[in-house]
Amino acid sequence: MIRYDLSTALSFLEAHDLEAVRPRAEAAHRMLLERTGPGHEMLGWRDLLLQPDDALLEDIDTTAAEIREQADVFLCLGIGGSYLGARAVIEALAPQFRSPVEAETERPRLPEVLFAGHHLSGRYLKELLAYLEGKSVYVNVISKSGTTLETMLAFRVLRPWLEARFPDAARRIIVTTDPARGRLHDMAETFGYRRYAIPPGVGGRFSVLTPVGLLPIAVAGIDIRSLFYGAVEMCERLTDASDNPALDYAALRYLFHERGYAIELLAVFEPRLSGIGAWWQQLFGESEGKAGKGLYPDAIQYSTDLHSLGQYVQEGRRHLIETFLMVEREPEPLTIPDTGDDRDGLAYLAGRTVQEVNRKAYEGTRKAHADGGAPVSTVWLERLAPGPLGACLYFFMHAVAISGYLLEVNPFDQPGVEAYKREMYRLLGKP
Ligand code: PA5
Repeated sequence: MIRYDLSTALSFLEAHDLEAVRPRAEAAHRMLLERTGPGHEMLGWRDLLLQPDDALLEDIDTTAAEIREQADVFLCLGIGGSYLGARAVIEALAPQFRSPVEAETERPRLPEVLFAGHHLSGRYLKELLAYLEGKSVYVNVISKSGTTLETMLAFRVLRPWLEARFPDAARRIIVTTDPARGRLHDMAETFGYRRYAIPPGVGGRFSVLTPVGLLPIAVAGIDIRSLFYGAVEMCERLTDASDNPALDYAALRYLFHERGYAIELLAVFEPRLSGIGAWWQQLFGESEGKAGKGLYPDAIQYSTDLHSLGQYVQEGRRHLIETFLMVEREPEPLTIPDTGDDRDGLAYLAGRTVQEVNRKAYEGTRKAHADGGAPVSTVWLERLAPGPLGACLYFFMHAVAISGYLLEVNPFDQPGVEAYKREMYRLLGKP
């Protein structure tokens, strides 16, 4: 379901560089599998795939069906790992535009999934409340710690708003948090909110395949079983160190890191994959960026950004590598019409498809950027569907674990994110 093509990037290295680093990459891979590396207590994201909990998937599907039936808007409150995975999968797979059939019926068949609690904009919250007026709203508060300011502040605003409008407000609030502790856990107990657990051994950025991601994804009408089992399949496949694309990807990144490269761009040619880019950015940024190490991860969308960042990528400072995330099979091609004239200069494209043009844009960009001095490689996703997407999520999680171990950092902690919080809370006078 996932293929990794690193052939072009290899021309930037000596012939045996990749072979030379392989034993170290394999050792890092073993540390992950044998649970001997730093942060090994945070490998719950693998455990849940190794022992799938079908009853949980069914339970989530049942809750999602109720919400789909009752809600106009499903509002997810969460930040970082508590929203990026859900948003990524929904953006990748849910309809981009509401179909006329849905628009005509009184209630859209699928609720609109919205996000809040991922920043501190009062303006956003005010406009959101105005937008929600008159709609049937369900809220999913997602926070492992149950203390994150952005999320809890949004909930503090939404809770009385819901209570003032819906006699069954408590049923409309669903909490996803630590199974045993935290303020959010305690509030759920006190007020009788429905609760889903984030397993203690799963960090935020690795939690997309727990209820953190699965409930919003299921509400959006996406088949969570296929998504989950796509990840299971990839998890099984990547157990073997030989012919292992995640190991190759991690090893290649490491080689360029050691040669002084500072940035990795994850470039997509399909706007639906931009959310995966944002999720990947957090996954790699928080996992590797410590002890003065790590490639700075930047997600960009082509061909849009070829008209803004393209200049830098082509001719700017030569310290970046570029990874394309591409979809192999594109169904339902859109044929470019033959208008019978060439006034727009595009007659040469008539009868071909927009998908073909986009593919050529990728091929042209790959060649141009490589010629310009950027080592490029490509992760190929078989198709844009739940199974391959689940495989893709696991592929990157597996790769970042190996990558962290190659850099000799703990890929599963994030001590640095506390620094701004300390300063902010001091300024706010938090007791
Ligand atoms: O990956 C992480 O651990 C973080 O991005 C968290 O997900 C984020 O800070 C939100 O934390 P919490 O779920 O505790 O509100």
